[in-house]
Amino acid sequence: PEAINIQELANRMSERAVDVIRLLMKQGAMHKITDVIDADTAQLIAEELGHTVKRVAAADVEEGLFDTVDDSTDTGPRSPVVTVMGHVDHGKTSLLDALRHANVVSGEAGGITQHIGAYQVTSPESGKKITFIDTPGHAAFTAMRARGAKVTDIVVLVVAADDGVMPQTVEAIHHAKAAKVPMIVAINKIDKPDARPERVRTELLQHEVQVESLGGDVVDVEVSAKNNTNLDKLLEMIALQADLLELKTNAERPAEGTVIEAKLDRGRGPVATVLVQRGTLRVGDIVVAGAEMGRVRALISDQGDTVEEAGPSVPVEVLGFNGPPEAGDRLAVVENEARARQITSYRAHQKRENAAASISGMRGSLEQMMS
Ligand code: GTP
Ligand code: MG
Repeated sequence: PEAINIQELANRMSERAVDVIRLLMKQGAMHKITDVIDADTAQLIAEELGHTVKRVAAADVEEGLFDTVDDSTDTGPRSPVVTVMGHVDHGKTSLLDALRHANVVSGEAGGITQHIGAYQVTSPESGKKITFIDTPGHAAFTAMRARGAKVTDIVVLVVAADDGVMPQTVEAIHHAKAAKVPMIVAINKIDKPDARPERVRTELLQHEVQVESLGGDVVDVEVSAKNNTNLDKLLEMIALQADLLELKTNAERPAEGTVIEAKLDRGRGPVATVLVQRGTLRVGDIVVAGAEMGRVRALISDQGDTVEEAGPSVPVEVLGFNGPPEAGDRLAVVENEARARQITSYRAHQKRENAAASISGMRGSLEQMMS
């Protein structure tokens, strides 16, 4: 059932909530500002206040927002997006750090401390770029997958050679298989005296991951993030796999992307790390993501530089949101603020309804438990 909160109704009309309540009172109903009234009553009130009412259905609100079905204009090349997964402490972040530092040409000592969980590395061999996403404890990836977001083209499964296949390794294998994404195995910590890469390969076999040396088609590379061993080889294997995928996009259209993470920064306000997937995101664009909207005030690259735009497969920090969106929210550029407000207020309403429904559902089960 369509319904609206009195405050929100007043906001949308730019009227005072007390005036709405007064009109409702005239019709014989006593209400508080937080009460929810049905759509028919809301329409009556709005018309009484001299507004024209246009009711919109979900399909209309979301119409044309994501052009995911029509990919006929996706003809330009795109760099692969690689998600690094694996068991806790197997060296995902170390590996990414090593790959990134191998790439820092200026050689600045220490580098910039980045909190962004996504960055681009240029393969020294081919000069091609690869976008990496780090997954701390899989939380982000699981949240994204649960919300239907597809961000990754290739999974790099990191397995520590001294520890072998562990529960989260298996979980990562399941993720990759469910997402139907090709996987490359990085057998890490090969420098350790107790490293047993051969054991890792046979353990993987038990989970239906068959590496090439055991007759399968999964590529594995023995690496050491600590000693920078075989990092070029890993990048090369990723680039080869990416070539097979023939990833295409259209950089000319308005941007679409996915929020990787978002937070409220003390100094900068809401900051969202976004992976642009199609089109080009620019400073000044009006964006929506989940129930949040904003005008892009600044874009910060993975190197910490301020940039004017970000194209497909590029991760950027987006400043200018009114509030932080959620990981997994899809980002879209819309034509104007009115449209952005329409979409986000509709979604915010849906979100509240869902929350209310789950609370009453909880109450129901609580009552069942008591009886
Ligand atoms: P979570 O994010 O907590 O899941 O861990 P992670 O997979 O990102 O592991 P991280 O990179 O934080 O590394 C865990 C520990 O392993 C650290 O103490 C690293 O120094 C160490 N380590 C990572 N790679 C190597 C390696 O190649 N060789 C050795 N000897 N140690 C490594
Ligand atoms: Mg980590």
